[in-house]
Amino acid sequence: MAALSFSGSLANAMLQFDLTAVWAFTTFLIFVVLTRVLYTAYCTPLSRVPGPWYAPFTNIPLKIAVLGGRRAFHVHNLHSRYGSVVRISPNELAICDTEGFNKIHAGRQGFPKNSWYQRITGDSILAIFTMRDPKVHAERRRILSKGFSKSSLRSSWEGEIRDMVNIAIDGMHQDALHDPTRAVDVSKWFTLLATDIAGRVMFGDSFGMLQAGKKTEYCELVEKATLASALREEIPFIRILAACLPIKLFKDVTASIPLMNEYGRRAVVNTRAALTLYSKQMTIFSGMVVGQEKEPGSLTDADIATEARNLTIAASDTTATALTYFVWDVIRRPQLQAALERELSTLQGEELTDEVLEHLPLFNATFLEVLRLHGSAASSLPRDVPNGGAVFDGFAVPEGTIVHTQAYTMHRRPEVWGVDADEFKIERWLNESGTSIRTGIEHSTYSPFGTGVRACIGIHLAWMEMRHAGAAFLLRCAQAQIAPEMHEDEMDMEDYFTMKPKGRRCMVSLSG
Ligand code: HEM
Repeated sequence: MAALSFSGSLANAMLQFDLTAVWAFTTFLIFVVLTRVLYTAYCTPLSRVPGPWYAPFTNIPLKIAVLGGRRAFHVHNLHSRYGSVVRISPNELAICDTEGFNKIHAGRQGFPKNSWYQRITGDSILAIFTMRDPKVHAERRRILSKGFSKSSLRSSWEGEIRDMVNIAIDGMHQDALHDPTRAVDVSKWFTLLATDIAGRVMFGDSFGMLQAGKKTEYCELVEKATLASALREEIPFIRILAACLPIKLFKDVTASIPLMNEYGRRAVVNTRAALTLYSKQMTIFSGMVVGQEKEPGSLTDADIATEARNLTIAASDTTATALTYFVWDVIRRPQLQAALERELSTLQGEELTDEVLEHLPLFNATFLEVLRLHGSAASSLPRDVPNGGAVFDGFAVPEGTIVHTQAYTMHRRPEVWGVDADEFKIERWLNESGTSIRTGIEHSTYSPFGTGVRACIGIHLAWMEMRHAGAAFLLRCAQAQIAPEMHEDEMDMEDYFTMKPKGRRCMVSLSG
């Protein structure tokens, strides 16, 4: 009996000890976390930077804005309230003044990209988009630039691009024939066009979507895989949910891997085929690998597969969205539409090449204004403050802080663009007689394609597609109008890493 009560009280004592230990450990943990939060909030130089009350403690409101597709607008509002340097989370600042923007992006190297880029692509092999080391990036950029130069694109790809543009416009007319108001979703056709062009240029095969009039399984899976990686980056606990729950989006990521590998192989085979014979299936990489296998930094098969996939993603939605907003912004202004149709008609009889189109003042000014207000990559570009820290508007910012700039705000600053910065005005781009594009102060922070060493490598391809598709639309869909079923707010922008119209469609009635 005595022995029993002894062992009972021993068990009690041990339980009590256990509870005390757990309690002490939990208290210690809370203390450590709180000290860290308070230290980051109040004791680093960032504590002097203005911003909302919660930003020093948490990034939750920012994450909520990201998940709701409102990041750029959330940050834009914070700039309006707190100024050009704003603390948006414990370790992140948003910057929108000219000097700060140039400090981050211009110069020989610019600040390094944050590791966010690699995390959202989910790639283990680095590509031009994700590389952070300036030397490694410069080498890759040197190699890829050859294929993406204006002259190389014009000599190797322009004819095919023009043909594909015409198939897209034929498709629009076909769709319109089957609709009582002759309405067609131009956003759908521009997406098929931009993705098929990217597939042809990067993989050597178009995805055949223009012919089919709809997206292929590959494209849908890649889109979902990209979204899933981005979601996993924003809400880390989703990884655990994704691993245990049968959520379709995340299962699709697994399903997409063999298909992505298959396309990667295709890019490699088609690239290498062009080494031995002139192949119709050559890719943009073909010229880059000819005779260069032994050069330092030359592309391996794995590099070609990864670049092909990343470049296709970078090239598709961005260009399609720019074209969609071009049509939307133009047909809502019948006077502008008529003036553009007139300007293009002056070229009658001439071959419509990118070079010829590049010299039309009104046409190009319209694209510049569309990209200013409705740029498709106008959201945050995160960079790391390098060793030694930096100063922004008098605030000392320690190394390792993440600094963001966004074209959405840079393109709407009244100090640069005037009091009418929010208005769509083509005239701001033209000289007084309207005969050429004006250059001036606004260009230093005008950055729909980014700025500096990390600016868009596909800029000339994007412009070529936009000019050909924009001109073909204006000429072959003259007097197009907004379809009666279309609501203005469907074209409000949503920010899911790139910008897109909220309604995911743009219905236009074609006349005739
Ligand atoms: C209208 C269409 C496009 C827009 C608005 C656009 C916009 C941008 C922007 C803003 C950046 C800078 C990103 C950053 O600094 O973090 C960028 C980078 C990039 N873009 Fe584009 N882009 C477009 C089309 C394309 C096309 C057609 C391609 C491929 C053929 C492409 C490939 C890339 C790549 C690879 C980078 C990363 C470059 C580097 O880090 O060196 N983009 N783009």
